[in-house]
Amino acid sequence: MHSFRYVDGSLKCEGVDLESVASEVGTPAYVYSAETIRGNYRRLDQALAPLGDRMICYAMKANGNLSLLNLLAKEGAGFDIVSGGELFKVIKAGGRADRCTFAGVGKTATEIDYALRQGIYSFNVESEEELEMINAVAAKAGLIAPIAIRVNPDVDAPTHKYISTGKSKNKFGIGLDRAAAVYERAAALPYLKIRGLQTHIGSQILKAPPFAEAIRKLTPLVLELKAKHGLEFFSIGGGVGIVYRGALQSGDAAWWKGSAENGVEEEAERLAPETYAAEVIEPLKALGLRILFEPGRFIVGNAGVLLTSVLYRKSTPTKNFVIVDAGMNDLIRPALYEGHHEIEPLRQPKDATLEKVDVVGPVCESGDFFAQDREIPVLTPGDRIALMSSGAYGFVMASTYNARPLLPEVLVDGEKSTVVRERQTWDDLISGEKVPGEPA
Ligand code: LLP
Repeated sequence: MHSFRYVDGSLKCEGVDLESVASEVGTPAYVYSAETIRGNYRRLDQALAPLGDRMICYAMKANGNLSLLNLLAKEGAGFDIVSGGELFKVIKAGGRADRCTFAGVGKTATEIDYALRQGIYSFNVESEEELEMINAVAAKAGLIAPIAIRVNPDVDAPTHKYISTGKSKNKFGIGLDRAAAVYERAAALPYLKIRGLQTHIGSQILKAPPFAEAIRKLTPLVLELKAKHGLEFFSIGGGVGIVYRGALQSGDAAWWKGSAENGVEEEAERLAPETYAAEVIEPLKALGLRILFEPGRFIVGNAGVLLTSVLYRKSTPTKNFVIVDAGMNDLIRPALYEGHHEIEPLRQPKDATLEKVDVVGPVCESGDFFAQDREIPVLTPGDRIALMSSGAYGFVMASTYNARPLLPEVLVDGEKSTVVRERQTWDDLISGEKVPGEPA
């Protein structure tokens, strides 16, 4: 469910023509749909309503633009954060610290102190040394730190190896065998208050059963801890996957069908929030606790596109390249996870001929591609395209590699589009740098 569709041959985001946005702000640029984000949040929340006491903590690592955070705070979302900087942004955006959980294996003392003073809901602790550190920082501040321990359920969830987290070989969490002892240790530390238990099995998961399996595996431990330490919440983490292949799917877009790249399996059907809920509600209810969810990609993934323009075409004896003005520094998912993003022209060409091309960016790396050997409509210099489903782990993972300024971000809401982050300038690129002996 998203708000991108062709109307009379023009790709629109809600009521706004994307070609006009591209002309106004230039390319490359990210565009997000407010309606899609609200819709995804509400639909998930609705599907989980039978649970009663629940909190959706949006995993803002997926997209931390202030206006998106503000929009979700207004919907009533809490936030899953992984750094002091993320908490700072939540607060700036009007979110509440007491609806934030703080995850991550490497929290620093400064970050812990800041989160504690802001009144964070829970630190999701990933190691015994971290427990000691939180206790020490809390003692110094004269405050009590609410904590949950992240327990690794050792469940295999089918996804890319770089985004699977629930196996014992991953760096995340504490093993099921050690968990009870670590809770004992936490209970003995005077400046900690045990509040919950957290787990997360990975990202871009398109099947619901692994989530239920993780809950069931953890249930005996959770019930034991609840009786012993008065647990208040259980967090099942994030990970609900989205559609990347055939993202536009229906309507006018059916005039051409992107074909699967060689050797890459066709993606499974999307995991509808209702399917996910149907699978997890029963085992979650059995815990008799407040339930937290930490969706990132599901909320924003299909709510964003990356607009880019074709600069050149180039052929070698074996390949046809279409060179665009966005690069792997702007959207790294294809290079890093073999991520697939559909390519949709902002203006549907009259001629529906397809050609097999590599769509590549200007960065000096062979990994700088958005598609390889993909059949897409014939594109010529000046044409603009949208890289679909780029709302999650797009802008937030961007860098200025090759001295390429960070992109602008545009938020569409109905008929209105607003630049919610300006494009960086070349001057921005050198801000903070200095040459020794010369004035800054
Ligand atoms: N909770 C925890 C503890 C997490 O580690 C993550 C994601 C989430 C929630 C949110 O997961 P989601 O609902 O978005 O799947 N950059 C990669 C994804 C990295 C995910 C990291 N952890 C990508 O572009 O596919």
